[in-house]
Amino acid sequence: MLRDGLQNIPEFIPTEVKVELFRRIVASGVREVEVTSFVNPRAVPQFSDATQMAKAVLHRNSRGVNISALVPNLKGAQGALKSGLRKLGFVMSVSESHNIANVRRTTSESLDELRRILKLKEDTPNLTVMYNMATVFGCPFEGKIKPQVTLKFIRQSYELGIRDIFLADTVGFGNPKEVQEISKICLGEFPDVSFGIHLHNTRGLGLANALAAYEAGIRILDGAIGGLGGCPFAPGARGNTSTEDLVFMFEDMGISTGVSIEGLLEVSRYFKSVKADVCFTSSILEAGVPVFRGPISKDGSEQKWFT
Ligand code: COA
Ligand code: ZN
Repeated sequence: MLRDGLQNIPEFIPTEVKVELFRRIVASGVREVEVTSFVNPRAVPQFSDATQMAKAVLHRNSRGVNISALVPNLKGAQGALKSGLRKLGFVMSVSESHNIANVRRTTSESLDELRRILKLKEDTPNLTVMYNMATVFGCPFEGKIKPQVTLKFIRQSYELGIRDIFLADTVGFGNPKEVQEISKICLGEFPDVSFGIHLHNTRGLGLANALAAYEAGIRILDGAIGGLGGCPFAPGARGNTSTEDLVFMFEDMGISTGVSIEGLLEVSRYFKSVKADVCFTSSILEAGVPVFRGPISKDGSEQKWFT
């Protein structure tokens, strides 16, 4: 939420508001939060406060949630480490064109950055580097990406020591069949890798894709409050699958998430109160959780609420 959810909002959100969002997100039961992005502030001004933000949330992390930040290069990783973070999400696209558009590097150059970042583990052994694989289910420049290409990138990062990977549908091109197939292949070929999925609801398939990933065996799902978000360097990118909608779907299916929907709704209400023009796309936020009005008798006497 605090990274992908905010990166497409043109106006800078003050650090204290971001910190309050963090506090409320954590209070709702979320255990993993990506809090910012260590990128060139000229490319994404929204995160020009990355250092202050990371320090502030680490200072307030009394519940011990896992806090991470996105990094595109060694400089970003060094900044994140310096501010106290020990969990980084390294972004590299499986599409050459999107990688160049996003981080101004070929994938081969990005792999070199990853090698340099992993060297930091020599001095900081408790550093975890996750690999955020952008455009796995399609790229706005190159179209669908073959699963073999994704597997090649997983293999390369695996050989470098990566064991945490997020398969990202950056622009919402994936469908449930593809999500299920690719998730199954990845889980089958790399049983000791922890796979998560990062879905955008660009074309309304976010929840269906999330369920497909879950059924394939994925247990880590990204979301953003109110369905905010999108990559500024991917034409047509829209919001993430909303955390409220994900939590509602799974809880209603009897699958415990440990997250309170009411708590999440509080987060979006707070954000709306400080940024009135924010555009949410969450169904649960709009409709609320189901409310039961009670049975109707045949003479219609309990139907007052119709009028
Ligand atoms: N954090 C802060 N500043 C950074 C940085 C980082 N991680 N990496 C580079 N910079 C600064 C450099 O210091 C340099 O500043 P200067 O001009 O004042 O000297 C400037 O950016 C250019 O450095 P360079 O190494 O040439 O970077 P670049 O221009 O090739 O940009 C990225 C590469 C990745 C930093 C840039 O494209 C970027 O920030 N992209 C954003 C990607 C993103 O957030 N996408 C959405 C999420 S998927
Ligand atoms: Zn995203």
